[in-house]
Amino acid sequence: MATGLVRRAWAKLNLFLEVTGRRGDGYHELDSLIVFAGTGDRLEMFPANDLTLEIGGPHGAALSAGADNLVVAAARALRQSAGKTVGARIVLDKRIPVAAGVGGGSADAAAALDGLNELWRLGLGEARLRELGITLGADVPVCLFGRPALVRGSGEIIQRAPPLPPAWLVMANPGIALATPAVFEARRGAFSEPHDWPPDVKTLGDLIAALEERRNDLEPPARSLVPEIDRVLAALADLPGARLARMSGSGATCFAIFATAEEARRAAALLTGREPGWWVAAAPLLHGKLAAGWRGADGAEEG
Ligand code: C5P
Repeated sequence: MATGLVRRAWAKLNLFLEVTGRRGDGYHELDSLIVFAGTGDRLEMFPANDLTLEIGGPHGAALSAGADNLVVAAARALRQSAGKTVGARIVLDKRIPVAAGVGGGSADAAAALDGLNELWRLGLGEARLRELGITLGADVPVCLFGRPALVRGSGEIIQRAPPLPPAWLVMANPGIALATPAVFEARRGAFSEPHDWPPDVKTLGDLIAALEERRNDLEPPARSLVPEIDRVLAALADLPGARLARMSGSGATCFAIFATAEEARRAAALLTGREPGWWVAAAPLLHGKLAAGWRGADGAEEG
């Protein structure tokens, strides 16, 4: 069978996410350390006359393939900006949960922009793709950037994070979709002050200590909307080897940080046994540009 052009859409995690203000247009100003974990969706793109999207995978049923799908929206925005009437058959293998705080939709949109830019030989640079991306979702630009990043503004101010130590992540989602706008609306109280991230985080202990100084400001409102998040955080914190447990994005996915692959895989297996209804995944924190190298903790092959 012919293979198309493949892009992976890695899970995005906010190691911390502080809300530092609210803009006139209602969007919030954020201060966040965003990393990617080596598990995620997979997009395959083929030349075609029309633009079509087929969705499969364990979380595919939760998505529509219509114009509201971020992959379709990304393809249309790219095509319009290029002024071309090109098509593509896009096959999305949806492996990470939807509306879950791990950037699935944004990562898919970023993968579509990047892949179709190549498939259609448009030659747009990353800066232009990011401009298109921010109109689709706040996390699309950082997903295009694809490396650990300190992100400010509403997602458009992206700075490469200083080097981080090797780490493994166990992610858990209780299967309850949580819409981002509702979580922002439920947020109460004062805004956080922006802080500098220390430039000299060398060991995992340094990373945990630095993260303990920060938090996810969306955790309290998300927990008020989905009390199950309390159980997810407690279950992750209780796993042997877990160094820190926190919610990602606007939830409901939470993660725990581990030192080694063995610890993380053992912990994920234990959690799956305890909570068979949850989505649980273990994957490394990805340090470099994501398109190359890592083949995916889910065993996926790179194209
Ligand atoms: O852009 P995205 O689709 O990720 O955002 C969904 C919603 O979350 C926005 O419409 C907005 O209500 C809220 N949001 C926000 N501030 C941000 C990001 C998202 O208020 N920086």
